[in-house]
Amino acid sequence: MVVQQCKTRYNETFGGEGEHMSINTSIYVRPSTSSAAYLDWLQMLTGAGLILFMWSHMILVASVNLGAGAMNTLAHFFEATYMAQVGGPLIGATMLFHFVLAARKVPFRAEQQGTIWKHAKMLHHQDTWLWLIQAFTAMVILIMGSIHMWVVLTDLPITAAKSAARIQGGFWLVFYLILLPMVELHVGIGFYRIAVKWGFIKRKERKKFHRFENILTGVFIFIGLITLLRFLFLTT
Ligand code: HEM
Repeated sequence: MVVQQCKTRYNETFGGEGEHMSINTSIYVRPSTSSAAYLDWLQMLTGAGLILFMWSHMILVASVNLGAGAMNTLAHFFEATYMAQVGGPLIGATMLFHFVLAARKVPFRAEQQGTIWKHAKMLHHQDTWLWLIQAFTAMVILIMGSIHMWVVLTDLPITAAKSAARIQGGFWLVFYLILLPMVELHVGIGFYRIAVKWGFIKRKERKKFHRFENILTGVFIFIGLITLLRFLFLTT
């Protein structure tokens, strides 16, 4: 009796013969077709924001090359306007959000990593390797970038003397010598991939744009190294 009622109900709802039809669960949980695109869009926007932040950050820190006074004045401006106190944690949150969005596609499990490694070797495609570099540098940046931000933002105000003392201590010099190329590679490749993926550059312009991105990455690593050297020999 109950079974018959269920069949009748089923046939009324789906217009089929209950005994011949199996239930298709995808009817009840319809996959959203647009959410992946929205999440990709958000990943790109947070990434673009972080790229702009990193370029500005490297130039601001490099102000020490013009003298300790130049860096102190800029640091004071960012603290007096609360941009460091508010902007710093916001950058941290954006970094974390960007990571969570990107983690949807990162192979975390050993077997997934083995598969992607084999595919990359099979495909012989430069952009696939670039993507693997992105995934690896992302992990390093997440950990080292968070430690760095915590150390700097819990020791305000920022002054050239404090930064120099940190770097002259040795540990932070090695720390930055690792973090600097990781960040610049990630930022440079991210910039190139955004342009390719979202169609800002055409297929035939790819090679030229990639060369430009390599030069840009090299320039920022060079600026970073000069700045570290300046901190290393700064006497205040
Ligand atoms: C708002 C947040 C941030 C502030 C206030 C900040 C501030 C600073 C300061 C003052 C220095 C000089 C060295 C020192 O004092 O120890 C520095 C260096 C550095 N920071 Fe940041 N930073 C921030 C976020 C980040 C992030 C998110 C990254 C990358 C994930 C990063 C990467 C670096 C690197 C690589 C250096 C070495 C610079 C060089 O080679 O010239 N920073 N930062």
